[in-house]
Amino acid sequence: MRDEKEEVKITEKKKKKKNKQKLKNQEEKQNEGEDKNTVKEEKDTKEKAQPQINNKKRKRKEVFPFGNYRGYYGYRIGQDMDEDPRLKVFKEEWFQGKDCLDIGCNSGIVTIQIAKKFHCRRILGIDIDPDRISDAYWHLRKFVRVEHVGKSSTKASTVEVTEKANDSEHCTTSSSAKEKELAKDGLHSAERDLFDIVSFRKENFVQSWCRPEEHYDTILCLSVTKWIHLNWGDDGLITLFSKIWRLLRPGGILVLEPQPWRSYENNHLVSETTAKNYRSIIFRPKCFTEILLDKIGFRKVEEVTSALTGSKVGFDRPIFAYHK
Ligand SMILES: C[S@@+](CC[C@H](N)C(=O)[O-])C[C@H]1O[C@@H](n2cnc3c(N)ncnc32)[C@H](O)[C@@H]1O
Repeated sequence: MRDEKEEVKITEKKKKKKNKQKLKNQEEKQNEGEDKNTVKEEKDTKEKAQPQINNKKRKRKEVFPFGNYRGYYGYRIGQDMDEDPRLKVFKEEWFQGKDCLDIGCNSGIVTIQIAKKFHCRRILGIDIDPDRISDAYWHLRKFVRVEHVGKSSTKASTVEVTEKANDSEHCTTSSSAKEKELAKDGLHSAERDLFDIVSFRKENFVQSWCRPEEHYDTILCLSVTKWIHLNWGDDGLITLFSKIWRLLRPGGILVLEPQPWRSYENNHLVSETTAKNYRSIIFRPKCFTEILLDKIGFRKVEEVTSALTGSKVGFDRPIFAYHK
């Protein structure tokens, strides 16, 4: 009898241990893929900053439920690269002299690089996370300074700005207008050109109100669909596509870089909402072109990734241009 009890106790203990390991594995899996490097970066920085505290108790891991990673470009764009490799396949005619919108601009580096390289008339970057908008204004100011003061090459300025993407000390949250004024402070009038072309705004694109006078020639939506899909489900995705359609002028272009379905698996446990939505998603990324052409109304699509080289592993995704 006693032996039996002992055996039951041991089996229960084993079961508990197994469950604990399972949970740990699940948590680790969730952090693989897109956010793998971010988590590592965060961990490294924290360990460097507070070695004695970390020895006693582990710090809580930062979570980015909208893909609103801090220091995103620190690992997306390699240090030896002069620009984000996606810019190599973008066509000048999509941007030159055009009004552009960058949905989910994160810390604004790609938005600024597009403005500079392709000479947009205007480009607005929006992001759900106010801290990323603060980062974006900080980068804008940095770009302008490096351009005018150092007369250095584009490569030098990009590398410096990308490195600084990991430095979050400059981040403060305030309104976009105030940010813009602060960013312009202390600059000569000739240095303000880029400030008149590039701006940033905190906005949740899925839930914000559509201003009737707002229209664009080109809208970028790069590596954002997964986050909108996971947070607002199929309804959110359709809202995203319909709103883009409404905001585009006739002949306008949507530049879309959707994440593949397999990468949803890596992030679906980031919150209860994403876990729930993940289970009910019907429209997989493979159907996006069909939805955009047959349901939303785009005329044609071109895939522009064949020439894309130099992307880091995990970021070699297709890019499509849909024409209204
Ligand atoms: C993975 S990052 C991609 C950044 C950038 N587009 C690129 O490809 O380099 C996704 C960005 O989308 C933003 N985002 C997610 N949901 C959003 C929403 N509903 N409205 C605006 N921005 C959103 C996140 O905050 C994050 O900065």
